[in-house]
Amino acid sequence: MGLFKKKTMTADRPVPTHIAIVMDGNGRWAKKRGLPRTAGHKVGAETFRTIANYAKSIGLKYLSVYTFSTENWKRSEEEVNAIMELLEKYLRELIRDMDKNQVRFCFFGDLSRLSPQLQEEARIAAEESKKYSGVQVNFCLNYGGRAEIIRAAQQFARDCADGKCTPEALTEEVFSDLMYSAGVPDPELVIRPGGELRTSNFLLWQSAYAEYYFTDVLWPDFGPKELEKAIASYNGRNRRFGGAK
Ligand code: FPP
Repeated sequence: MGLFKKKTMTADRPVPTHIAIVMDGNGRWAKKRGLPRTAGHKVGAETFRTIANYAKSIGLKYLSVYTFSTENWKRSEEEVNAIMELLEKYLRELIRDMDKNQVRFCFFGDLSRLSPQLQEEARIAAEESKKYSGVQVNFCLNYGGRAEIIRAAQQFARDCADGKCTPEALTEEVFSDLMYSAGVPDPELVIRPGGELRTSNFLLWQSAYAEYYFTDVLWPDFGPKELEKAIASYNGRNRRFGGAK
């Protein structure tokens, strides 16, 4: 039996429960090849498919991906439309192949600004995949970390105004339950390919104690080997959560 057989590998090194990824570098990947930016997004979507399947095979429970941020609307209309079309196509395929893949899908973000068709596909994907118990993919779509925190604060303020609770009742747990990610454990590892060293408003509340892994590899080139490197780096770290060494 080979040392690198999947099951052995999984047993030998713990896989985090929740990994979050900023899928960055599609545009540059395309530019380097003299292709339009949208070609990079297309390959990026395929990369995501490969990584999601691999994540499932190693027993990851939650995979969150930054698919479209609240700031991404600032891009050209052509690029935004191309990403939206790609997403629609991706969701249609995802719904079609759901039984084969057995992945649970969740959507974090304000979907109301998306096309009615995209909203409907997201609703169907989330509703019909609830029955699967393997990996859960959280698509962060029209998502922003600050907007999510404001939304939770507004909800809590509303509950207080309605007499359902008092300000003193607010704890980290209560607030977490008002996030899109309610019920999902915080990510232990946040990966950002593409060479930029910032969080870009991604899962701000949830990543308070996450380990970050940055790499220059552009997202379309990010394969299972890169994911393994990130997990190995995570496993080599000493997580203290503010405690002593
Ligand atoms: C970041 O690369 C990518 C995006 C803003 C869009 C993300 C979209 C995808 C990965 C494709 C769709 C995914 C799925 C799962 C259907 P960038 O354009 O910021 O790259 P750059 O920094 O090189 O310009």
